[in-house]
Amino acid sequence: MEYKTVKIISQEKLTDDIMSLWIEWDGRASVVPGQFINVYINDPARLLPRPISICDVTDRGLRMVYRITGEATGTAELSGYQAGETIRITGPVGNGYPLDDIMGKKTVLMGGGIGIPPMLYLTKKLVGGCTVILGYRDSNTFLMEEFENAGAKVFVATDDGSVGTHGTVIDALRESGIEPEVLCACGPKPMLAGIKAYSADHGIPAYISLEERMACGVGACLGCVTSTTHTDPHSHVKNARVCVDGPVFLSDRVEL
Ligand SMILES: Cc1cc2nc3c(=O)[nH]c(=O)nc-3n(C[C@H](O)[C@H](O)[C@H](O)COP(=O)(O)OP(=O)(O)OC[C@H]3O[C@@H](n4cnc5c(N)ncnc54)[C@H](O)[C@@H]3O)c2cc1C
Ligand code: FES
Repeated sequence: MEYKTVKIISQEKLTDDIMSLWIEWDGRASVVPGQFINVYINDPARLLPRPISICDVTDRGLRMVYRITGEATGTAELSGYQAGETIRITGPVGNGYPLDDIMGKKTVLMGGGIGIPPMLYLTKKLVGGCTVILGYRDSNTFLMEEFENAGAKVFVATDDGSVGTHGTVIDALRESGIEPEVLCACGPKPMLAGIKAYSADHGIPAYISLEERMACGVGACLGCVTSTTHTDPHSHVKNARVCVDGPVFLSDRVEL
C-alpha cells in the first residue's frame, strides 16, 4: 500500500468532541462509500495509523469526520493540526458498500454515533434519494442538515429522546412505517446486532460496516479478525480481516 503525504485544507469542530477534517485529494483516485483512510499521527511515538471512514469526496478534497476519544490520544493530537500542515495516509482501504446491489432498491441507511459520517458519501452516491436514519446519544447532533441537503429523507433517534424517536435507529425505522428492501449500516456493535436480527426477521439483506481495533490497517497483522459464519476458502478458518476483507459484510456472514 502506497503512503501519501497530503495537505490539510481545513479542520473544524462540529460538536465538543467531533471534528471535520478536509484533506487534499487527487480526484482521479476513485473511492467507494464505506472505505476508510489510515491516518498516521505526526508524533513518531504513535506508530500505528488511525482508521477513519471517508465521509465525503468532492472537488474540494476528501472529508473525514471523527471523534476525539480522550485527552492523550492520537485523535486528540490530530484535532490540533491546522490548514496547511501535512499528514501521512494510506488508502482508500477496504471494500465499501456494494453500490450495484443496492442502487434502485428501497434502501434505508442507518448510522449510529460516529458510524454516521460514511453514510453521507453513500447517500450522495444513491442518485434519486434514499431514507437515512441517524442515531445520536442526545441533542448534540451533527451532519443532520447535510443529509437533508443531499436529498435524503431523514429520521432521527436519540438515546434520551431529546430529538426524534426516543430509542434506537430500529425503533425509528419501525415508527416510520417504511418497509426497506435493503439496509446499509455503520455504528456500534449492539446496533449492528439489532440490524442483523431485523434483517433475518424480515428476509432482507443488511450490509453492515464493522469497527474492530486495528493495528497495521492493511491486512498484514491479523489484529482485526472477526468471526464469520462461513469458512474462508484460503485460510480454512471462520475468520475475516475487517480492514481488507471488510469493513462491510453481509450481516448473515458475520458473528456479532
Ligand atoms: C473501519 C473503521 C472506520 C472508522 N471510522 C471512524 C470514523 O469515521 N470516525 C471516527 O471517529 N472513528 C472511526 N473509527 C474509530 C477510530 O479508528 C478510533 O476511534 C481511533 O483509531 C482511536 O484512536 P485514538 O488515537 O483516539 O485512540 P488510542 O487509544 O490512542 O489508539 C490506540 C491504537 O488503537 C487503535 N484503535 C483504538 N480504538 C480503535 C477503534 N475503535 N477502531 C480501530 N482502531 C482503534 C488506534 O488506531 C491506535 O492504533 C473507525 C474504525 C474503523 C475500524
Ligand atoms: S489491522 Fe492488520 S490485518 Fe487488519
